[in-house]
Amino acid sequence: MNKHNSQKQGVYIVLEGIDGTGKSTQIELLKKHFQRLKKKVVVTREPNNLKLRKMIMAADCPVETLFLFLADRSAQYQRVMQWMSEGKIVLSDRSYPSSWAYQYEAGNLKKYLPKKVMERIDLMSRYGTNPDAMIVIDIPVKEAMRRLGNRTKEQERFEKEVFLKKVHKAYTDMAKSKKWDVVSGMGTSEQVHERIIIALQKRTLAVL
Ligand code: TYD
Repeated sequence: MNKHNSQKQGVYIVLEGIDGTGKSTQIELLKKHFQRLKKKVVVTREPNNLKLRKMIMAADCPVETLFLFLADRSAQYQRVMQWMSEGKIVLSDRSYPSSWAYQYEAGNLKKYLPKKVMERIDLMSRYGTNPDAMIVIDIPVKEAMRRLGNRTKEQERFEKEVFLKKVHKAYTDMAKSKKWDVVSGMGTSEQVHERIIIALQKRTLAVL
């Protein structure tokens, strides 16, 4: 984590991607990988706080939703900074890119909120810090829809697909402009895991 005024000790790795990319499976594989290397690993996720997660589900305006995610994140980053100071490898299922992709871009918040304002509140919620590695797992939206199953009604599926296309585009654009690693989420989970390890090694994170 790039944090001013403290020595960098741990490593903070975030996995991102649209629903259905298999992030949680990959986090578990990464955890085992680091444990084999005798590292201290913490696995976490956003949204994290159960009460806030319930409030997020009940929120009825997009700005309220965004602020709940940001509130959840600010407490989360406090914990992450603590783990980092203890020299741990922190693996997180999602973080701030989800707010940009789901709320700002796909959720159309950009209609009301200038980008500069979003940038400020985003940075504020994470104390101006950045993860050490951001990995976007990429699968086509059609594949995500297939993985998410057939349980919902046709109209809901259509809306979900339209939404996920926007989320997907947001991740693709952000990864390009911010030079994040994008790995394909297609194939077996072991293949995807290999790709993630290669991407992390290319980042030459000291701990790896
Ligand atoms: P979750 O049940 O954890 O799903 P997943 O396993 O796909 O991560 O729900 C997280 C949902 O919350 C997911 O659809 C993305 C969304 N989300 C946002 O919309 N904004 C955010 O800032 C975060 C962290 C998550």
